[in-house]
Amino acid sequence: MFEGLLVFRGDGTRAYANDAAHALCRACYPRDLDHGLTLELMLPRDALPQAREAGHWSGHLSFGQGSMLLVHVYFHPAEGGSFLLLMQDLQRIRAYEQELLRRHAELNVRLTAAQEKLLQAEKLASIGQLAAGVAHEINNPIGYVHSNLGSLQEYLHSLFALIDAYERALRSPDPRAMLAEIDETRERLDIDFISRDLPQLMTESREGIERVTRIVKDLKDFSRSERDESWKLVDIHAGLESTLNIIWNELKYNTTLEKHYGDLPPVECLPSELNQVFMNILINAGQAIGERGTVRLSTGHEGDQVWIEIADSGPGIPPEAVQKIFDPFFTTKPVGKGTGLGLSISYGIVAKHHGRIDVDSTLGEGSRFRIVLPVRQPKAAA
Ligand SMILES: Nc1ncnc2c1ncn2[C@@H]1O[C@H](COP(=O)(O)OP(=O)(O)OP(=O)(O)O)[C@@H](O)[C@H]1O
Ligand SMILES: [Mg+2]
Repeated sequence: MFEGLLVFRGDGTRAYANDAAHALCRACYPRDLDHGLTLELMLPRDALPQAREAGHWSGHLSFGQGSMLLVHVYFHPAEGGSFLLLMQDLQRIRAYEQELLRRHAELNVRLTAAQEKLLQAEKLASIGQLAAGVAHEINNPIGYVHSNLGSLQEYLHSLFALIDAYERALRSPDPRAMLAEIDETRERLDIDFISRDLPQLMTESREGIERVTRIVKDLKDFSRSERDESWKLVDIHAGLESTLNIIWNELKYNTTLEKHYGDLPPVECLPSELNQVFMNILINAGQAIGERGTVRLSTGHEGDQVWIEIADSGPGIPPEAVQKIFDPFFTTKPVGKGTGLGLSISYGIVAKHHGRIDVDSTLGEGSRFRIVLPVRQPKAAA
């Protein structure tokens, strides 16, 4: 210990002194403990009587060169009495305090640095989460454009085959005689269907690519942390239709779609974000119904609110899972199929629109997701 510790018997003889006590006495008094330094010589005149009487005395003792001791004297009356002295070197205490302050400041600096690191880590984590969300949103249009390119390739084969047929006719001595064969080729290759489907295919692929472009732009905006979306008055049904166009590929194999559109006023919203919500919930419905089933898409208008309801004939959601479906990364789908972000992203978007998503699900019957939105946004948001 840094403190000097001394014990004297009632008759003034010394019973114990630690090394610090020896050192302190050597430094402060003209004699040391082993060469005539007595209890009386160490302390002011009134110290010992006061300690005998009150049990305790303490005081500051000054010496040359600015050194100062804080001394506590405790008296114990048993067995003829004994004194216990505790001596503290004030310079040393001050130096120690200063050392503590310095360490405190150093710890503060380290703490601030650690906090900054933590913030950085959180930012990275949320960028990671964002990247997963973006991958999720980009995957759908890419899949859709990819499948359209497949169809396009088939159509091109057919169209080149038809060109071949024309060419053969043109080069034959009697082109008119070939007309029947050309008609037959047209029929066989379903050219009428192709000429109807092709422009639609192109439009929808273009929409898909534009969607990806928009998402990438959104991501860029986000990384600049100044998202600049504009609120628009929008026909919700148009948004539903274009969303259905884009995801139809995902639904068409197992889904019978029923539409029950009500009369809706234009709704103030961020249209591309709302479409993302429709897409997530519709795709969930399609994935829920498995082999074959129905998705009912209905809309309505009540007071200053509109609602969009997507109901499926899937297996329903167990009551204990309903609480969790909006949590990020909650998924019951196999790895690679679901990231568990669809509903959490949707929840965020609808909340931003000052709306809500109600869920009603019965096991064995199906699930109903109802998005309720105000027709107009509160002033500040818009
Ligand atoms: N219509 C539904 N019927 C039954 N369960 C559903 C339905 N919609 C959502 N769920 C449940 O909620 C979970 C979370 O849905 P969410 O859309 O957030 O993620 P995901 O579909 O699993 O993955 P992701 O959308 O990211 O591809 C689903 O895994 C599923 O268990
Ligand atoms: Mg989903």
